[in-house]
Amino acid sequence: MSNNRIQIFDTTLRDGEQVPGCQLNKEEKIEVAKQLELLGVDIIEAGFPISSPGDFDAVKAIADTVKEATVCGLTRSKKEDIDAAAAALKSAKRPRIHTGIGASDVHIKHKFNSTREKIVEQGVWAVKYAKSFVEDVEFFAEDAGRADLEFLAKLTEAVIDAGATVVNLPDTTGYLLPHQMHQRISYLYENVKNIHKATISMHNHNDLGLATANTIAGIEAGARQVEVTINGIGERAGNTSLEEIAMILNVHKDLGFVTGINPKYLYPTSLLVSNLMGMPVQANKAIVGANAFAHSSGIHQDGFLKHAQNYEIMNPEDVGVPSSAIVLTSRSGRAALRHRLSLLGFDFEKPELDKIYTRFLIMADERKMIHDEDLKELVG
Ligand code: KIV
Ligand code: ZN
Repeated sequence: MSNNRIQIFDTTLRDGEQVPGCQLNKEEKIEVAKQLELLGVDIIEAGFPISSPGDFDAVKAIADTVKEATVCGLTRSKKEDIDAAAAALKSAKRPRIHTGIGASDVHIKHKFNSTREKIVEQGVWAVKYAKSFVEDVEFFAEDAGRADLEFLAKLTEAVIDAGATVVNLPDTTGYLLPHQMHQRISYLYENVKNIHKATISMHNHNDLGLATANTIAGIEAGARQVEVTINGIGERAGNTSLEEIAMILNVHKDLGFVTGINPKYLYPTSLLVSNLMGMPVQANKAIVGANAFAHSSGIHQDGFLKHAQNYEIMNPEDVGVPSSAIVLTSRSGRAALRHRLSLLGFDFEKPELDKIYTRFLIMADERKMIHDEDLKELVG
């Protein structure tokens, strides 16, 4: 695999589905998994098989259905979890077990009542046990973002020696700043002697709104897998959003990284997940939000109508959004009003347009947004 290819690991059906109220039934999960495959994700984390009989069945059904992508199941470093994941993934063409344990002192002490030494032992055991079922084993060092760096290096080296093909270093609490993420991943590349035998993965939460920035920083320091969700859904403030990473790497080709994502499926996938999960996408969400390609102020509308690139760095069609939108409000100018009227078949000379514009502003102050029906009323 070329060293600039970023593996897209989608965890919408696992971390994303943990969001209260976002639970899907088996058929819905299969529908999402098929769409993720169409979108071009490399790895689908289908669920946490030990967590419930329903999740076990769904992971199994996805393993039966998915043809190209790797199908992954999450486990703790426990025998019963790994047994359940192995059973659920049995029919997968490319199965992966994702096992792991807490790596920060706060987790070691307050979650596991354990010691660093015992954590390394348990992690190594879990990787070796998972390896007895599947070749592809990913290890997660939970809360790696707050873990002691020397200890994290030791743990990383030990699980790679045990056979981990991927080491996931999650910023579970969304704590780090981008430059800190870069320094930490660089440190691991300099200090873990077998690190090139495994892929390093980013799994960042968005508690401070930095998940995407931290993921990009991790890539720049050497990570080659990113764990993301559609619309950035996930525990608390969510995970890194798939569409943001895909389009950052696409727009900034100068960074030199590529993914297997076909951007034209980004918006349809966002809609599908939002509808099935009943989780609306915020209007100003990058790439897929309702306002991501909507222009509403007079200065922007005038510039956009002269040349789209004045105010757009991507074509909406490229990410599956049907078109840009000119939204008419009391901040809109004459150019946008004239444009919208001409689409409705009305062409006015300047003096007449000026009069209509004056009435338009009064109406827009009252109604906030002006739709085609309002315009017809205005000129009718
Ligand atoms: O955020 C996290 O640390 C996780 C792990 C289970 C991978 O979701
Ligand atoms: Zn997570």
